[in-house]
Amino acid sequence: VIDSTTKVLSRHSSGNLCRWEVEGRDLNTWCRLPGNPLTRPLVLMANRPDAPATTACFRPTGLPPQIDTFTAFFRTSQNPSYDHAQLVTLRVVDDEGRVHDRSTLRLAEGARAHATLQFQAGTPGPGLEIRVALEGFGGGDHHGNLRLVYLLAYESNPLVSLCNRAGTDKGTEAFSGNGVPHCYAIEYHELFAPFRDERFALLEIGLDDASKLSGKPLDAPSLRVWRDYFPAATLYGYDINDFAGFEQERTVTFRGDQGSRQDLERFIVQHDQPMFRLVIDDGSHASSHQQTSLAALFRQVEPGGMYVIEDLGWQPFPEEPRTIDVLAELHESGRVRSPFIPADDARYLERTVSSVEVHRPNDSPFAVIRKRAG
Ligand SMILES: C[S@@+](CC[C@H](N)C(=O)[O-])C[C@H]1O[C@@H](n2cnc3c(N)ncnc32)[C@H](O)[C@@H]1O
Repeated sequence: VIDSTTKVLSRHSSGNLCRWEVEGRDLNTWCRLPGNPLTRPLVLMANRPDAPATTACFRPTGLPPQIDTFTAFFRTSQNPSYDHAQLVTLRVVDDEGRVHDRSTLRLAEGARAHATLQFQAGTPGPGLEIRVALEGFGGGDHHGNLRLVYLLAYESNPLVSLCNRAGTDKGTEAFSGNGVPHCYAIEYHELFAPFRDERFALLEIGLDDASKLSGKPLDAPSLRVWRDYFPAATLYGYDINDFAGFEQERTVTFRGDQGSRQDLERFIVQHDQPMFRLVIDDGSHASSHQQTSLAALFRQVEPGGMYVIEDLGWQPFPEEPRTIDVLAELHESGRVRSPFIPADDARYLERTVSSVEVHRPNDSPFAVIRKRAG
């Protein structure tokens, strides 16, 4: 039994506010329960079928009262090999032992899986109980193990659910490469809900991560999200790949390089100078491209509109000045200085930007650049 007073600090969006108390039961002797499960994976090894199931419970302390959801990410070991499955039973249990939600995962060797469990905001002392057992164990020396690789606690909302269903990393379940979910939808809902039902135009740059590899774009998960979240909006999608094969109502796509001023201007002219309430740059993430796009497109943002640049913490290649630094200077001194932003566009930004906010719901920040209302 692990000391139940162990305190761990999670790396999730409320990591600065919330500590996790970890309690372990029936853990076998090989199990390691590191001090901080989220800077290194927590490794749980199932007991043999005739012994009680291995169980650990994470109970955040000082949880903000609006939190109503846990999402946990798991991976199973691969080497040495085994044939059985790791059966994972998850429950949200309050401080009196009442169960609020449950879920079951079956992971073969080397598999990844996640589960999202919900509870009423304000539930007293909600904890996430993780129980692991072997399924189809035929004997042998290699049990394999289960790793809890990441854990989130957050307040969910309708946009988070749409993003998770569509599989975009703006939500809390999907992530690309070795990353973690960006969780932008947690804060986007607060920013976008006030004009959700209005008629307006939205432009998103960058439409599908998978297309980077295949070069054959078939789906645009985030455009599906915007279609459902903004029922009266007209959607424009801009990507270096050709998304002509992606069709849905109220949506047009355009093939262009966001790092090319020529392409961006061709897009504006071809669509009769559209004015956008909302622009979201989730394209290449290269600083030069982000700034070229901002320079070319900010005139197309309607008064009071927002220009969002995602994933400012990640760059495909090193480049100066980084967009985050250009925006910090704009925020602090009101000046725009960048070789990627021509002087007349820089002066336009200085005159018309009303504020620059940087949000960091999880791993990598996004910026909201607001245009003056009039
Ligand atoms: C991170 S994905 C977009 C994910 C999508 N917005 C979502 O939330 O699911 C990045 C996209 O940017 C596109 N892209 C990469 N470089 C680009 C460029 N220079 N101009 C326009 N699009 C680009 C890629 O083709 C890819 O579709």
